[in-house]
Amino acid sequence: MYFKKFDHPGNFVFDKSFDYQMEVLGDDVFKLTVESPRWHDNFSQAELDEAAFANLPSRAELQVSEYSLSLQAEGGSLLQSLPERMFGVAGSKWMFCFAHRPHMQFYGLGEKNNGFEKTGVRSKFWNTDVFADFHMHQIETGVTDPMYVSVPYLLVKQGNVYCGILADNPFDAFVSLRAQERIENQQGVATEDYFMLGSTDGRPTLYFIYGPSLADTTRKLQRLCGCHARPPLWALGHQQCRWGYKSARELAELDQRYRQANIPTDGLWLDIDYMDKFKVFTFDPVHFEQPKREFAELRRKGRRSLVILDPGVRIEPGYPVYDSGRQENVFCRNREGGEYVGFVWPGATVFPDFSMPEARDWWARQTAMMLGKSDLDGFWLDMNDPSTGSSVLDEMLFQHGQREHGSYHNQYAFGMQKATFDGCLRHRPERRPFLVSRSGYISTSRYSAVWTGDNIANYYHLRQSIPMCLNLSLSGIPFCGPDVPGFGGDPTPGLARDWYKAGFLFPFFRNHSIKNARKKEPWTFDRETCGVIGHFIRLRYKLIPYLYQLFVEHEQKGDPMLRPLFYEFDDSDELPLGMIDDQFMVGSHIMQAPFVEPGTRSRRVVLPGAGSWFDPWSGQWFDGGQTITVRRDRRTTPVFIRAGAVIPMLRQVPDISLQPELLRDLELHVFAPPEARTALQFSYQADDGESFAYRQGKVSETIATIRIDGGKTSVETKSVKEDAGAVKFTVKRNCLFEAMTES
Ligand code: GLC
Repeated sequence: MYFKKFDHPGNFVFDKSFDYQMEVLGDDVFKLTVESPRWHDNFSQAELDEAAFANLPSRAELQVSEYSLSLQAEGGSLLQSLPERMFGVAGSKWMFCFAHRPHMQFYGLGEKNNGFEKTGVRSKFWNTDVFADFHMHQIETGVTDPMYVSVPYLLVKQGNVYCGILADNPFDAFVSLRAQERIENQQGVATEDYFMLGSTDGRPTLYFIYGPSLADTTRKLQRLCGCHARPPLWALGHQQCRWGYKSARELAELDQRYRQANIPTDGLWLDIDYMDKFKVFTFDPVHFEQPKREFAELRRKGRRSLVILDPGVRIEPGYPVYDSGRQENVFCRNREGGEYVGFVWPGATVFPDFSMPEARDWWARQTAMMLGKSDLDGFWLDMNDPSTGSSVLDEMLFQHGQREHGSYHNQYAFGMQKATFDGCLRHRPERRPFLVSRSGYISTSRYSAVWTGDNIANYYHLRQSIPMCLNLSLSGIPFCGPDVPGFGGDPTPGLARDWYKAGFLFPFFRNHSIKNARKKEPWTFDRETCGVIGHFIRLRYKLIPYLYQLFVEHEQKGDPMLRPLFYEFDDSDELPLGMIDDQFMVGSHIMQAPFVEPGTRSRRVVLPGAGSWFDPWSGQWFDGGQTITVRRDRRTTPVFIRAGAVIPMLRQVPDISLQPELLRDLELHVFAPPEARTALQFSYQADDGESFAYRQGKVSETIATIRIDGGKTSVETKSVKEDAGAVKFTVKRNCLFEAMTES
C-alpha cells in the first residue's frame, strides 16, 4: 500500500455511460449508487439506517444525469460535478469529481492528523497501525496519514450552509481536496480547481446529506450511522492505564494511591501483561488466582476494571481459544488455503475473520466466557487495524479465502466491536457494554468509543488532539479522546498540566503510557503538578451531569459533545471561525481555549456570537463578537461559559468514583449577566447510569423554568417523572469554578 501515491483523474475514463440509481431517502438525504458489471457489491458492513428518513420531506434536490450531478437547495447549487468529469473509472476504481468554489471549506474525514480544515489535502482511508507503519520522527511532529479509523465522509462548508458526502465503501477510498500534484516532498507542480472522492473497488455508494446547518447535517449523518447509546456513567469518569500493569494487586495499589491523592478515578485498565503469554481470553495464572473475586473486590471499592483484547490468537495447539477457532473454521485464510499467519505480542498468530457471522458468534462466546470468569466492566479493543507485525496484509483473505484483503480490511475492527458488544450482552443483557477501540469504520458509534491511538507526549500531539477529535465528532464518532498526557515519551510536568487542562472535558479521558516511558500517574509528577491534575479531574467530576446530559441528548438527537465554534455560531467575514482549531465547544454552553503551545504567556481567544461570555475563574463578563487576550495561569485554563447557560453540576464531587445517585443531587448553575432579564428553560434526565432500563422509561425527568430579572433569579422546577428516583436541585447564579481555589 502506497500512502503517498494517489489516483489521478488523468488515468480515469469519464465518458462512459453508467446506470445511476438515485434514491431520495427523505429529510434531504440522498443515496446514489452506480450499477455496472464492474462491481457486484459494495462489500460494506456498515449499519446504515436508511429508514430513519422515510416520509420526511426534502427541500434539497439531487439531480443526476448521464454526465452531471448537482445538489441544489433553496434556489442555489451546493455541489456541482466537474464539467465532463463527473464520474470516472479505471478498472474497478472509480471517482466522482466536483467543481471547487473559492469559499468552500472541508472537514470530517474521520480520524486524521492532517489539519482541521482540509483544503489542499489528499488522503487515503486505510486503517493503519501508526507506530508500525511510520518512522518515529514522522510520528513525533509530522502528518501520519492514514491512521487507525476509516470514515470516508467529507463535510463541505459554504459560509453557514453545510452538506456532507459519505462513501459507504470499505476499500482504500481516497479524497483529493483541491490538492497540489507533487513530485513527492520536493515540489508542487500543479493545482486544479476541483475536489474528488473515490475508491479502488466496491460498487459506488454515496450518501449526500444536506443540512443546511452543521447541526442538521451532523444529526442526519449520525442518524444514518447510528448514535452512541448512553454509556455507563462510570465510563465518563477519569480512567487510569499503563502498559505494564499486570495484576489485580497493581490495580488495588492504584486504588490506594488515588485515595491518598484525593483524586477520583473510575476505570483501572490492564494492558497486555495480564494475559498468560499474551494469549487472548486468558489470565496469567501467577498474577490472577481468582479474577472474578479480585475484580469484584475492586468494584466494591468503587473502581471499574477493564482489560485489553487483541484479535490475534496465538498458534498453540492445546490452547482452547486456538483449538476451538480452528475447529469452527473462523480464522482468516491465506491464498493457499492455510490459516493466515501474522505476528503480534504472542508471536505467530491467526486472526478471527470478523466479516463472517459465525466468527463473530465464536468471538462473542469467548467474550461471554471471559466475562463469566472475571465479570470485568469493559474491554479495550486494540491492534484491530488489523496489525500483523512484519507479515504482509494482502495475504490475509476473508470469508474462507474467497475475498481479497481490501474488501474487509477497514471493517475488521468494526466486526470485532460488534462481536465483543454481543458477547457483553450475552453475559449480562441488562448492562450497557463499554468498549473503546483503536480502529473503526462507518457506524462504529453503534458499538464502541474510540481513542486516538498511540500519540506522543509533546505539544504537537496535544495540539493535534483537538482538530482530530473535532473532525471525528463531525464524522459520526463522537465518543473519542486521546491518551493523556501522551502515550509515548516523557511529558514534562508543564505538558502534563497543559494536557490535563486541555483534555479534561473530552468525552473519553484516560491517562495511558507506553511501557518504557516515565510513570505518568498524577502523583508521579511534582506536588504542584499533581495538584493541578487533581483539580482538573475533580472539575470534570463536578461537571459530570452536564457531560452525561450531552450523551443523553446525543442519543436522542445526534449532536456530538465536542463541537467546533461554527457548530454553535454563525461564521462571518468579521470573525471567521472556520480555521479555529485550538478552541472548541463542549456542548453548546462551555467553550475551551486551552494553551497548546509550550512557553507562551498569553493567547488570543475568539469569543463568537452576539451574546456575552462568563469567565468562571474571575467572574468577569465579556461581550461576544470580539477577540481577547488571556494570560497563562498555572492553576486555571481559559474556559468561558455562554450567557444563558444552565449547567447541571454535582453538588458534591465524589472522593473515589461516580455513583449513579449522584446524578440526582445537583447544583443547577445559571449564567446570566447582572443586567439580564430573561427566562430560561432547562430539562434534565437522570437514570440508573448502568442498565438499559431507561429505554423502558425508567428515568427521572425534570423541567426547570428560570426567570432572571437583573440580580434576581427565580426557579420553578417541575418533575415530569421520577421513575429513577427524585432529583434535588440547588440553584446558583454565576458561580466561580470552586476547584480553582483549592491547592
Ligand atoms: C498498542 C496500543 C497501546 C498499547 C500497546 C500494548 O500500541 O495502541 O495503547 O499500550 O499496544 O498493548
